[in-house]
Amino acid sequence: MNKQPIGIFDSGVGGTSIWKEIQTLLPHENMIYLADSINAPYGPKGKEAIIDLSIKNTEYLIHKGCKLIVVACNTATTNAIDYLRSQYDLPFIGIEPAIKPAALQSQTHNIGILATKGTLSSELFHKTSHLFANTANILEQEGNGIVELIESGNLYSDEMKALLKIYLNPMVESGIDYLVLGCTHYPYLIPLLIELLPKHIKIIDSGEAVARHTKAVLEQNDLLNKTSILGKTNFFTNGKPKVMASLLGKTHTVSYLKF
Ligand code: SIN
Repeated sequence: MNKQPIGIFDSGVGGTSIWKEIQTLLPHENMIYLADSINAPYGPKGKEAIIDLSIKNTEYLIHKGCKLIVVACNTATTNAIDYLRSQYDLPFIGIEPAIKPAALQSQTHNIGILATKGTLSSELFHKTSHLFANTANILEQEGNGIVELIESGNLYSDEMKALLKIYLNPMVESGIDYLVLGCTHYPYLIPLLIELLPKHIKIIDSGEAVARHTKAVLEQNDLLNKTSILGKTNFFTNGKPKVMASLLGKTHTVSYLKF
């Protein structure tokens, strides 16, 4: 069982930002990454549709023998992970926006969160933000259109810059000193965000915390792959393999898979 792969799924290429962190921390693990790009973005879809897509992805990864599944998508985590945990007998790791560290460390007590409509309107997100409502003022911003631009290979485009300016300016004017990235696609925006944001604003995402949590859950369940051989990841997308490959670098190949 320990040599079986970790399964990772996302609505598209964004979860590869989480995969990178897991691969760095757990280099001996084999992994299967599934990008449901044809159905991206999940953000504007309703809860039922997000659960159905998450079931489809989970069943494929279980069929491939995965020992643990990382739901590398904030929208799928906030809308579907409780359901998945109730139906399948293997550990699931989810992604939640890093509201807690941002709220606790903020000096201005104003933090911004950029996330999808599906995440910001979810029950899980409301619960978390209520917990910190007395610690910091949380300014929510929907990132409509960002995932579509990343999925179509237009990450560093003028259109992306223009969109980001529209989303960031009101938060900057409200005095935020932390920007929480509440979607796994958004860490790919970091170079652009550094260019557009005033220097004192810190950008925070959940990638490292998710990797640490994945390691802890594998240890607790005695599922760590204790081999000294480096693990291998197989990447699959039902979208454009070239777009994903461009984010991963030359050493990785991405296969097209109809699912
Ligand atoms: C989306 O599919 O809309 C974005 C994925 C995420 O929320 O991480």
